[in-house]
Amino acid sequence: MKVAVLKGGDSLERQVSLRSAARVEDALDRLGHEVVAIDVGPDLVDRLGEARPDVAFVALHGRGGEDGTVQELLELVGVPYTGSGPAACIRCMDKVVAKHALRDAGVPTPDFYAFSQAAFEELGAAKALPAIEERLDFPIVVKPAGQGSALGIKFASTAADVPGAIVSAFSYDTKVVLERHVAGRDLAVSVLEGPDGPEALPIVEAVPRGEDFYDFEARYEIGRTEFICPATLPDEVTTRARELALETYRVLGCYGFARVDLMLDDATGELTVLEANVIPGLTDTSLLPLAAEAAGIGFEALIARVLELAVARAPA
Ligand SMILES: Nc1ncnc2c1ncn2[C@@H]1O[C@H](COP(=O)(O)OP(=O)(O)O)[C@@H](O)[C@H]1O
Ligand SMILES: [Mg+2]
Repeated sequence: MKVAVLKGGDSLERQVSLRSAARVEDALDRLGHEVVAIDVGPDLVDRLGEARPDVAFVALHGRGGEDGTVQELLELVGVPYTGSGPAACIRCMDKVVAKHALRDAGVPTPDFYAFSQAAFEELGAAKALPAIEERLDFPIVVKPAGQGSALGIKFASTAADVPGAIVSAFSYDTKVVLERHVAGRDLAVSVLEGPDGPEALPIVEAVPRGEDFYDFEARYEIGRTEFICPATLPDEVTTRARELALETYRVLGCYGFARVDLMLDDATGELTVLEANVIPGLTDTSLLPLAAEAAGIGFEALIARVLELAVARAPA
């Protein structure tokens, strides 16, 4: 098949996308497909028109590529593509939308309050902060509704830290989430659709090295975090985490593959869902490939599977 690999773009996760795409291109090549690499920009529709690919592999992360924009465009130009459709992308890319959907469906997610920039600028939302702080207790996690890779996430240990954290989150998005902090273990469950429907892959635990426990951005720097797969957990926790990931995948309407991030509370043993990523990283240090490998699915087989699913969904 002729496969257009969509990569890059101008999101903050451009570099991760380029690394994911390089690995995907390599795998597609080894699988015998013809690869057309497209760094997405204003000429995307023209480039797709010229290349006339059989299918597009969307190796984009963040705004534009993961939020339904590119997916909607691919639907319009009639090119089958990998991963979730526009509606699931929109739901997952916006943590406010995703968390409301999860809560409504009875999937546990840490308690939260969300605000738009307009609420602060036009409705005096700052005056409501003490009420929120009282309900969530310190520390509080402040994050932009969009973005990923822990960009813009801040940890507020006292009321004095909250305004600064909110301002920082607003530099990434026009909506912020104030969320209850979960002291516990950081788990990721990838979901991949097999012949019998979505399956949860072995769990990856992210274990931070050193002292920077609350510097979330540092966790993503190579070497600062150790990834253990399969995570060492009691059987019932493993089962429950995988069930929650599948439930999240279903509630948010994902297709093909996704990665669900969860927290396991040290004190209560409770599992909560932080978010779902519709286009998980596919770099050589990413969690989905690691989990697939642990399930006996090599990188090429993973890419082949995701591509097959894209073609299977395509309208005749
Ligand atoms: N409520 C929370 N309690 C504790 N840690 C959190 C919380 N929210 C986020 N984190 C930490 O920050 C990381 C990134 O948060 P997440 O919500 O997955 O956003 P993203 O990955 O999109 O940046 C998590 O994997 C976790 O380590
Ligand atoms: Mg995450």
